Amino acid sequence: MIVSDLEPTDDLRGAARDRNGFHNARQETVLNFPRHFLWGAATAPTQIEGHVQNEWTNVVARDGNTCRLACDSYHRYAEDVEWLVKLGVKAYRMGVEWSRLQSAPGAALNQKELARYCDLLDRLKQAGIEPMVVLHHFSNPPWITASGGWLNRKTVDAFVDYVGKLVGVLRGHVRLWNTFNEPDTYASNTYLLGEFPPFLKRRFLAFRTVIANMGEAHERACRFIRAQGSEVGPVGVGFSKNWTWFHPFRNTTPWDHCLAAMCDAIFNQWVLRAFLGGRRKDASTFLGLNYYGRVRFANLRALVPVNGLCPQRLAGMGVVCDDMFERHPGGLETILKRLHRRYGLPVYLTEHGAASADDEFRARDLKENLAALHRAISHGVDVRGFFYWSLLDNFEWQFGFSKKFGLIAVDFSDAKLPRKMKPLGHAYRTLCQENRLTL
Ligand code: FCB
Repeated sequence: MIVSDLEPTDDLRGAARDRNGFHNARQETVLNFPRHFLWGAATAPTQIEGHVQNEWTNVVARDGNTCRLACDSYHRYAEDVEWLVKLGVKAYRMGVEWSRLQSAPGAALNQKELARYCDLLDRLKQAGIEPMVVLHHFSNPPWITASGGWLNRKTVDAFVDYVGKLVGVLRGHVRLWNTFNEPDTYASNTYLLGEFPPFLKRRFLAFRTVIANMGEAHERACRFIRAQGSEVGPVGVGFSKNWTWFHPFRNTTPWDHCLAAMCDAIFNQWVLRAFLGGRRKDASTFLGLNYYGRVRFANLRALVPVNGLCPQRLAGMGVVCDDMFERHPGGLETILKRLHRRYGLPVYLTEHGAASADDEFRARDLKENLAALHRAISHGVDVRGFFYWSLLDNFEWQFGFSKKFGLIAVDFSDAKLPRKMKPLGHAYRTLCQENRLTL
């Protein structure tokens, strides 16, 4: 048995199945996580709440479903908090939906909707669960969309106005704020790839403008939030960068090298600079990282299931994927170390997860990624927490209900939308309770 000491441990023995519910290897390695490490789960309003009025309301996903009811968490949030308690998480990364709260530029916030979010936050507090609140997660109020969305500079002012009003009320409940979730994913799917409403393609200038406006809104929101502080502890604020590695599948195809380098330059480097470059770096107190894996190109074709390729066929080529992207756990250690060297900010892993009906596959994926994260911590990277995507099976944007990311299953074929703990949920609970991972 090997024990990796971020903190000392004592009585660990082998068994047919280990403490995390995973199959046991011959030799055990026990990885302890830092004492106050925040184990959490994540969701987003459009994906779970239902009854939203934003640009997704009328979108019919590839599986024929819409987000109109989603998991109906709008009504069942109390039950969802109970599931968080059953999972034993210490933190919950949740969104607050702008379109519910403000009906016009500069308008006062809707008190009824605000009260619902406050009740949710109160319940989390009673359960001892720390919220991290996301302010923008791929959706906008209809009046923002009608005026050009994030292409319009006035949206920056409108967002800062909204954040000012919201933070003024929620600073009594919240200390961790996440301004933007994956601005790169939002801008590329909306304006380059035609995957998010209004489904536009190849609008490179629009992509650039949206990122620039969001970068500015991020800086202004951060400065405001920090000046306001929080009644419940030291305030923290950052945005969540999706990090995807882009690599050529073969070394012998220079065009794939070029495409991979171009994607990295635009979606990773340029977006990071827009949010953390120059004096903007001092605005954030942490960096959120969403990490799923990588995309490899073979003759300019992305080798990933979201591109219509079958995971089994890809596995035959040595490209191991969940139902969406290639897994690349080692890349998590590399990117954490690199971001640490470049920015020196504390990091929260604000999303990682796998979509699959096979929970053993998901358990292996989780374990391998957490081992990589642990190696980064051992090398001095200040990682403060990990949020599994997702608490619930939910509405996965353009793919609808077909991608199963939940720790808790939701049966969408049953009008009552019953929830049920999955095997991975049980394993995650052990991890949260013991604060250590047995390999
Ligand atoms: C991320 C999104 C999240 C979910 C996961 C699978 O890019 O932030 O809403 O869709 O991917």
